[in-house]
Amino acid sequence: MSLQLRIEKLVYGGEGLSRLDGEVVFTPFVLPGETIEAERAQSRKHVQHARLVRIAEASPDRVEPPCPVFGRCGGCQYQHAAYEAQLRFKREILAETLRRVGKIDLEPARIAVEAAEPFGYRNRAQFHFERGRVGYREMNSRRLIAIEQCPISSPKINELIPKLSRMARDRRWPDFIESLEVFTDGEQVQWNVVESRQPVAKRFFEWLAEEVPGTVAGPLEYAINDDRFRVGGTSFFQVNRFLAPRLGDLAMGDARGASAWDLYAGVGLFSLPLARRFPRVVAVEAGRGAFDLKHNTERAGLAIETVNDSVEDFLARERIAPDFVLADPPRAGLGREAAGRLLALCPKTLVIVACDPATLARDLAVLAQSYDIGGITLVDLFPQTFHLETIVKLASRRG
Ligand SMILES: C[S@@+](CC[C@H](N)C(=O)[O-])C[C@H]1O[C@@H](n2cnc3c(N)ncnc32)[C@H](O)[C@@H]1O
Repeated sequence: MSLQLRIEKLVYGGEGLSRLDGEVVFTPFVLPGETIEAERAQSRKHVQHARLVRIAEASPDRVEPPCPVFGRCGGCQYQHAAYEAQLRFKREILAETLRRVGKIDLEPARIAVEAAEPFGYRNRAQFHFERGRVGYREMNSRRLIAIEQCPISSPKINELIPKLSRMARDRRWPDFIESLEVFTDGEQVQWNVVESRQPVAKRFFEWLAEEVPGTVAGPLEYAINDDRFRVGGTSFFQVNRFLAPRLGDLAMGDARGASAWDLYAGVGLFSLPLARRFPRVVAVEAGRGAFDLKHNTERAGLAIETVNDSVEDFLARERIAPDFVLADPPRAGLGREAAGRLLALCPKTLVIVACDPATLARDLAVLAQSYDIGGITLVDLFPQTFHLETIVKLASRRG
């Protein structure tokens, strides 16, 4: 049965919300203000989803998506929206999530927005392989969507796609490889096997190195501003090649003082610039990035103490807070334990860099007991997708 829907707004995840006789319906690839014809799709966890059939009345923000597989590939949700409109929607979604989850009332206009090139930004991509075809996976499915290019990926990654397609049809290609990740700074190329039904022989990587100039056998050396970062195959690194060099300044602002902590430090993207402003810096990382972090901080010759431990255990041991704390947790956010300890230690300034607005809102609700929001910036690290990064500067009321 066909549904006539009017889209009220977009929600986190990229779908458009509409109401039908009191029932909330979510439809992807639509825009606020549009009237659409849709059909019921499956209902998951009591939430009704619909499939767009026809747009009866289009939004003035609607544009032609540049990617031929947009709508089928699971990577992008917003290519049908003009870039300015994407930023507006994300700002509204962030303000609404903070209000709904964190009970924090903030006019969207108070959220600063930082954005760069909307396409060609990704320095990392994960390709899937199936019977000689290369592609991405469909949304919520393992089905492969073959691709010839990817408009959100860097030119270097786009250069590799036809090469991989040719190699995947070659009889030397190991058919048991299901997905490979590529990471590049534009010249060096690092390959990581993500899914394979069998161990991959060394000669496959030798063949890759012959075919793809710039292939590195181990870690990649990524330059950001004047710093160099060794990034191993399993270490985290920011994926937006245009905004990664601006993140440090955005997170630190004009902060200066005697001591700082860089929590969830990764390979040290923030630790190095922090150490030029604070004579004493402690960088904490629990994952495999801790090896790169140690290497990168020692090589830079800066006074950074590295701690290879969980932030929770580190905070449990500490008794005195530094002047400045920067925390860049994974999607799960700080969580009750780390947020509670930070509240007890109460550094004067606490900056949170967050990639999930809902867990951020939950953490801010806890921290609101002692902190005021001094500034908030939405950094659009993932244009064309629903993902959004937020930097929140918190100032302690305890002085
Ligand atoms: C979003 S990344 C940020 C890395 C770094 N700040 C950057 O921008 O490159 C989060 C990092 O936290 C680490 N991590 C996750 N949970 C952790 C925990 N409980 N304690 C310490 N580190 C953790 C991950 O290994 C990852 O390197």
